[in-house]
Order: sequence, then C-alpha cells, then structure tokens
Amino acid sequence: MKAELDKLVEIMDKKGMATYFTTFGKGAGKYGKRQLFTKVPESVAIAWAWRYKEAKELLYELSKYLTPEQAERRTIHFVNPALKDIPIVGSAGITPTLYGGLQLIKPGEKAPYHRHTAVNFRFILEAPEKGAYTVINGYRIELHKGDLTFQVPWVWHEHGNDGNSDLIWFAGLDAPLIAFLGGMFYEAPESKEEEENIRKSLRGSGEDANKLFGKSVRPILLSYPSYVKEFNTTYNPLVYYPFEDVINALTTLSSKENMDPYNGYVVEYINPLNGGPLFSSISASMILLPSNKILKPIRRVENAVFIVFEGNVTINVEDTDRISAEPHDVIVIPSWKRYSIENSTNSKALIFKYSDSPLFKFLGVYREEYG
Ligand SMILES: [Fe+2]
Repeated sequence: MKAELDKLVEIMDKKGMATYFTTFGKGAGKYGKRQLFTKVPESVAIAWAWRYKEAKELLYELSKYLTPEQAERRTIHFVNPALKDIPIVGSAGITPTLYGGLQLIKPGEKAPYHRHTAVNFRFILEAPEKGAYTVINGYRIELHKGDLTFQVPWVWHEHGNDGNSDLIWFAGLDAPLIAFLGGMFYEAPESKEEEENIRKSLRGSGEDANKLFGKSVRPILLSYPSYVKEFNTTYNPLVYYPFEDVINALTTLSSKENMDPYNGYVVEYINPLNGGPLFSSISASMILLPSNKILKPIRRVENAVFIVFEGNVTINVEDTDRISAEPHDVIVIPSWKRYSIENSTNSKALIFKYSDSPLFKFLGVYREEYG
C-alpha cells in the first residue's frame, strides 16, 4: 500500500502536483516536507544571535578587498541559519520576510544614488560628530548616533561620509519578502547627467521635513510625489526620526508612568499621517528597560529583530539557550516563540526592535499572548 502511494506521489511530483496528505497534513514529515497546517505558528526561522564585535571585525576585513565602488556598498548582513536553503530568502533573510545588516561608509566615501521598491531603514550605530549624511526624497539629513532614517518604496537615495570617522549603520529592509513575492524593482541613474539632475532636485534638510510633517499639523498638499501614485504606496512623509526625540519621550515616559511588565517602556516610530507603523511591512520601536528589571514572558505572531543600543541584556527564548547581549548585538526571535528580556545590570538598557507585524495585522492573523 505504502509503495503504491509513494509511486503515485512520485508521478504527481513529476507532473507538478501534490496531495494534502504529503504536504499539508500528517504525512508531510514522512515525505520530507514541512507541515503547513500546524496547530500554532511554526516559523521556518530560528532564534539566533550575532555579535557586533565579530561582525564589525569581518566588515573591516571585507573593506580591505572591497571599495564602495567595487561593491556598490560595503555590507555584512545576517542570515538566519534555518533559511539558508530557501531561494532568495536564504541569501539575505534574517527572518523569512526581513533583511538585517551592517553598512560601513568611511570618510570621503559615497554610496551612489539608486531606488528600489523594497523599503529601507537605517539605524545609526556609529557616526562622526558631523559630516555623515543621507539624501532621501530630496531632503538631506545629517546622521548622528541613534537616529533612524528611512525611505518608502521607489524613492531616490544616496549616502556619504564627509566626516572624520567611520559611519556604521544597521539597515533593515523587507527585500527578501518583496523579491520572493516578485515585487522588486531597482533602478540606478544611467548616466552622470541623470544623477546630477536627481541631485539638483534637493528640497531641503531633514529638519524641514520634520517641521512639515513631524509636528501637530500637516500640510495639505496639492499632489503627492509620483512614486506614491505609481506604487500606491502608504506614504510616510518623514525622512528621519532624531534620536533626541526618542530618548526624550522615553525619559519622560519612564519618569511619569508605571512600567508595562511585559513590554517595558516602549515608543513606536509612527507614520505621522495615519498613526500607523513606519512602513506597511515593518514596525519599529525603541524599548527602555530600567536597571535590574525582568520583563514577563510574551509571544507574538511576528518575526522580530532586536538590536541592543545601550546596556547589556539577557534574552530568554523558548527552546533556546539564554542569550546575553552587549551593545549593537543582534537577536532574532521568530513568530510565536515565547521570550522575556532581562536587565540585571545597574544601568538602563535601550533596545531597538523591528518586526514584520504590520503584515500579519494586514492579513488579520496577528495575535499576542501575555504570560
Ligand atoms: Fe537602497
């Protein structure tokens, strides 16, 4: 009986067909497939941690061989070990949906203009006092440690470092998802002339964008940029979130309010037009965990990445060894894994988090469980 079934499955496989029993159901394991209809979410990704020290060392090793001109950009990105064999996602997925990695721009270097449909944020880890910059949607932004800058789909952007020390940021994108789903468009100027024309369309500084869109009023515009129409993009008109705003909010919050025992003190980076997440596909937040505090366990339907910004923490993840993390270490926690964060030091900890939760919310399958 089994032999006959195996033969039939083989014939179907050759014809590009399959059956519920061997793919969705209980037989999946026996046929080398992963069951689709699991009782609770079972992410294909696993919990993992990457050490900043180690990654930074490798980034500098790499810079001996790759100039930005040769490499387009000099990066090290983090690949979830469990995703390695999946096309596209296995090349660049820290989670099944997200990219996460470091980029180094040395003094005098430039990363040239380009645009793509994948969204992209940069969380600045190291920067010179002045001179590091990015230009997004015609707004030039000076980059400082702790700032978050970003662009929505199809926006021209370039970066450079005219300062006197290295610029390193953590970049997060939804590129694995967009490419895997067949939605990736990428474009670079075809000539120096075109690049210069893009450069000429400078509107102002990042502070100007924040004055227009980051306060209590918003301008009523005659028209939105063409890319908003072209891709029907959820437009986030800001181009950066200064660290100063984030830390001021967290300091006030932690001095006036009781701490949420599961989440700590948290502020979310929001789109000022609709109060929604940073992007349609990615939410981002900063967590402040005071000294000697242990958060209660929680699990969520989301694939989350944590970057320790300040202090030392320990993260306990279900089915995983305790993860001790230092500044700029990167930790990924897949969907529906229970975890808790602990700060047993005498200093506060700041943790930057981004996740694909907006996707699950859009699909109506987001869920969280406290305790
Ligand atoms: Fe880019």
